[in-house]
Amino acid sequence: MPRCNSFFNMCKECAQKGQAVDIGKAAFTTSLNLLSKLFFSKELANHKSHSSQELKELIWNIMEDIGKPNYADYFPILGCIDPLGIRRRLACSFDKLIAVFQKIISQRLPHDSSKRTTDDVLDVLLDLYKQNELTMAEINHLLVDIFDAGTDTTSSTFEWVMAELIRNPDMMVKAQNEIEQILGKDKQIQESDIIKLPYLQALIKETLRLHPPTVFLLPRKADIDVELHGYVIPKGAQVLVNLWAIGRDPHVWENPKIFSPERFMGSEIDVKGRDFGLIPFGAGRRICPGMNLAIRMLTLMLATLLQFFNWKLEKGVNPQDLDMDEKFGIALQKTEPLRIIPILKY
Ligand code: HEM
Repeated sequence: MPRCNSFFNMCKECAQKGQAVDIGKAAFTTSLNLLSKLFFSKELANHKSHSSQELKELIWNIMEDIGKPNYADYFPILGCIDPLGIRRRLACSFDKLIAVFQKIISQRLPHDSSKRTTDDVLDVLLDLYKQNELTMAEINHLLVDIFDAGTDTTSSTFEWVMAELIRNPDMMVKAQNEIEQILGKDKQIQESDIIKLPYLQALIKETLRLHPPTVFLLPRKADIDVELHGYVIPKGAQVLVNLWAIGRDPHVWENPKIFSPERFMGSEIDVKGRDFGLIPFGAGRRICPGMNLAIRMLTLMLATLLQFFNWKLEKGVNPQDLDMDEKFGIALQKTEPLRIIPILKY
């Protein structure tokens, strides 16, 4: 798992200048970079340039269009007319994203695998392509799926966890103490440290309970008539599972509206699809394939920001007055971006 050094450097620079960091934007750039380093051994985005903003807009537009209700889903006869232009816009955004990937692939493809200097996921995909196990169209669409599904979900979860920590300074201190105990003042977090940070894991679970970025699971369709708790779901009906409502259900959770990571300390409940009260990544065969990676990315970013910095709101805003309103694309976003000022600890 690559490190997030550029995230740290950007926060350090802001701390030295007394400037605020737009956490959602910075986390998006970092998620994009962590994924692109894993897949392409290079960072696709830069905290300072506008190119990551354009890429964010491209990915955001795709997420938003996929999430929009489409009349054609309810009246299939309208499918060929594409009444809201969603299919047309999506095709255009997909083409632009694929062009970004193809530029990278075209630089890598001519090389003999024995002479490659990289050792990443793209190498594996291109080997499968050369063995005729995957087509280039399949590689393109796999990459589009992963970058769409993996960036905004992770960065919006990260923005929420930081917002909750700013609202709850005692939790921030507790998390910082845990990190200092395990990593000290200068050791960078390794993957093997993650299980030694149970409070950080509890913070991430509690954030995913209250602010699940996808809100709904991917739509399902009933294969046959099914009876569930006295209701009949007819064959062919589309089923949307509302994660947001499950996470706030008072029959499942005590004080559901209160942010309390402590509820997970010493508890066996996890997010891996075994506990139906908490399924932010889904469950069963269609569970999110990026789940473990997402948890690692979130822990890595959180540990980096809390180990080296303290954080305060701009212009003396009171933490209790922080805007926690939500807006919905396909990932749940904060309406008001979280802007906070880092203060170097050491
Ligand atoms: C906090 C971060 C994330 C959350 C909460 C999340 C959540 C989800 C959920 C709920 C689904 C639908 C599962 C279902 O309907 O049963 C899903 C699907 C998916 N996720 Fe994630 N995800 C996250 C991060 C990632 C990352 C980092 C990647 C890739 C590296 C990724 C790749 C995918 C893909 C490719 C699918 C589609 C699977 C399919 O078509 O069946 N996700 N994710």
